[in-house]
Amino acid sequence: MAYAAFRSIGAYVPSKILSNEELSKMVDTSDEWITKRTGIKERHIAAADEFTSDMGAKAAKLAIERSGLKKSEIDMIVCATISPDYFCMPSTATIISTKLGLGNITAFDISAACTGFVYILSIAKAFIESGMKKNILIVGAEKLSAITDYSDRGTCILFGDGAGAAVISATENKEEAIIDIHTGSDGEFADLLMTPNGGSGSAHDALEQEATSCFMQMRGNETFKVAVKTLTKDVIDILRENSIQSSDIKHFVPHQANYRIIKAVGDALKLKDEQVVLTVEKYGNTSGASIPMAINDIYESGRLQAGELMLLDAFGGGLTWGSALVPFAPFKK
Ligand code: COA
Repeated sequence: MAYAAFRSIGAYVPSKILSNEELSKMVDTSDEWITKRTGIKERHIAAADEFTSDMGAKAAKLAIERSGLKKSEIDMIVCATISPDYFCMPSTATIISTKLGLGNITAFDISAACTGFVYILSIAKAFIESGMKKNILIVGAEKLSAITDYSDRGTCILFGDGAGAAVISATENKEEAIIDIHTGSDGEFADLLMTPNGGSGSAHDALEQEATSCFMQMRGNETFKVAVKTLTKDVIDILRENSIQSSDIKHFVPHQANYRIIKAVGDALKLKDEQVVLTVEKYGNTSGASIPMAINDIYESGRLQAGELMLLDAFGGGLTWGSALVPFAPFKK
């Protein structure tokens, strides 16, 4: 049987920084409030002519190079995004594939908001274990600034832009295999976090809609409470089901939404600070891109070594959530 191995990671962060100080000139907020309630100090914002696919392609190029594979060996690309280049079609995955010259491979997007990367990891795992594909490029890419209402202090302080990508490959070696992935959802909470307009559920006359009604809206405090409860249960379950102790986790890589959510889940698992990967301070919440961007951070700083076990967890609009137990398994040179 083929197993799925997490071979490589890459990321791209746009150069422009939007600081808390700058935001406090745009809405009624302060660096002190944002830092205390979220842990965020700054976020990066893509240029006007820089699309989600541009960022995704840069992250993906790096991930392919670091995997050691040739571009021609990639046989599928899946992109997780809630800020695609185009509404409905074409998919951002097909655009990234063409920008990278990957040929006529299977390419599609999925929508699972901030849980997107865990979802595409599970899709890659399933395609590889079924024998249908061998080397899959997964990309989480977001230009959230394009769907953020910069007059709403409840959301605009949180979100940023960026992309991360990974190559997942078939292996016969069970030691290298992704151990387990959980994914879940509950549409009962759909209205906690949504872009209410612009889709078939709302549009009678698109021209009559305010442009801002296509932006993200969130009931933050309620979302926060469901996130802590759901994530804590999910990570405890995945560890128990796989007989893994939290002390066996080398890197806990949570979706970077809010430091207080990360801390609550980390405390529930009794994790030490050095096990918890934090990038929320410098990138804010980049939705589907946040986990691969965080993995890339520990990779580039030399903290992520072959064989080390990562626990990923994520929560987002839908509502959706997920977790994954993933050893880092680059090809042996
Ligand atoms: N600056 C200053 N004050 C603000 C503010 C801001 N940016 N945003 C909200 N406030 C005010 C509120 O108006 C409220 O004022 P009031 O007490 O006078 O009514 C007060 O701060 C508390 O608001 P509340 O929404 O309860 O704050 P919070 O502690 O829940 O923090 C979030 C708000 C958005 C940071 C937090 O709820 C959060 O991170 N939620 C989850 C985000 C998330 O995980 N999303 C899903 C996954 S992507």
